[in-house]
Amino acid sequence: MTKDRIYMDHSGTTPIDPLVLEAMMPFLTKNYANPSSIYAEGREVRTAIDGARQQVASALNAKSNNIIFTSGGTESDNLGILGSVFSLKEKNGHIITTTIEHPAVTRTVEFLGDHGYDTTFLPVNKFGQVELDVLADAIRDDTRLISIVYGNNEVGTVQDMKEIIKLAHERDVLVHTDAVQAVAKVPIDVKDIGVDLLSLSGHKIYGPKGIGALYVRDGLKITPLQHGGGHENKLRSGTENVPGVIGLGKAMEMGETGLTTEMPRVKAMRDRLLKGLMEAQEETYLNGHPEKRLPHNAHVRFSYIEGEALLLNLDMLGIAAATGSACSSKSLKASHVLLAIGLTPEQAHGSLRLTLGKNNTDEEIDNVLEAVPAIVKKLRAMSPLGHGGQ
Ligand SMILES: Cc1ncc(COP(=O)(O)O)c(C=O)c1O
Repeated sequence: MTKDRIYMDHSGTTPIDPLVLEAMMPFLTKNYANPSSIYAEGREVRTAIDGARQQVASALNAKSNNIIFTSGGTESDNLGILGSVFSLKEKNGHIITTTIEHPAVTRTVEFLGDHGYDTTFLPVNKFGQVELDVLADAIRDDTRLISIVYGNNEVGTVQDMKEIIKLAHERDVLVHTDAVQAVAKVPIDVKDIGVDLLSLSGHKIYGPKGIGALYVRDGLKITPLQHGGGHENKLRSGTENVPGVIGLGKAMEMGETGLTTEMPRVKAMRDRLLKGLMEAQEETYLNGHPEKRLPHNAHVRFSYIEGEALLLNLDMLGIAAATGSACSSKSLKASHVLLAIGLTPEQAHGSLRLTLGKNNTDEEIDNVLEAVPAIVKKLRAMSPLGHGGQ
């Protein structure tokens, strides 16, 4: 990203923080030994991995033996869901997830559906929240696992995870949460919420791409999906991505500090951005929950326009944003999350996601607040969908 561009797609990915890169560098250059080697250089790398594991664990109030390093959020979701279900003695039963999950969860639950499990995709309310009574009604005697996204990657809604987990545990059901977007945005204490399995990813929190972790609570067995030399306590074989692991550890440590230092400033900018956008043009609406939302997420909908056209116009002005999730922006299908919160396909197509990060400035907010309403006005004036710019 060149200096003059404005990057507001931090839910898509984040730049590596310079301090994270600094921590990683020795492991890309001089400390290249295989951590499984027993000579001094290998032991040194093993010690560094142990340190990173402790950093990840501490940020979640977990213990280091609860953390399994993976290749990212997608693998963590797969391992958490399939690994826990496959380790149960019953080889069938019922799995619950929601209609607003990332494909890494949706497809994994669908995979279980193709292999003999019953599946339920719970609806959410218009704010994108799972309602507890709807969840309670969906749980059956043979429900094995519930997987619910902690903070949604599109509209940013944060679930009442502690209450969800309490309800599930009262009915003896395991809970996995995809916290890829929520980690380092909202405080997460795995002991306090009592979650069984939690997925996270490096590249959403100023760490590198291709690294993630799965938290597995004490005493919970999971079946490995990747077989080989028995790395990661025999749960995820493959020589460790050492620079990635070190980067994730540092990013988690910094992310936890950032909750009280960076995040209030990011949230204040996001609030000003949202307020400005909503006030600038009529028929502008907020997607997601007004309060229970990720602090960096602004997701708005403009009537009568196409989000793709808005995005391209913003791009030409040097502003990088998204219409839906990064994965769905290449297809013209309306986002499944926006449809799930009750929008029509036309309404869904008129949505814009701006996700802020710690490098954004107040001046950039001013620029976006100038650019977006002007483009919306221009597009509405030419819109075949109506309005005519009035
Ligand atoms: C909620 C959520 N889960 C999972 C993923 C996948 O993570 P990764 O890109 O590390 O595989 C993403 C990435 O967009 C995400 O937003």
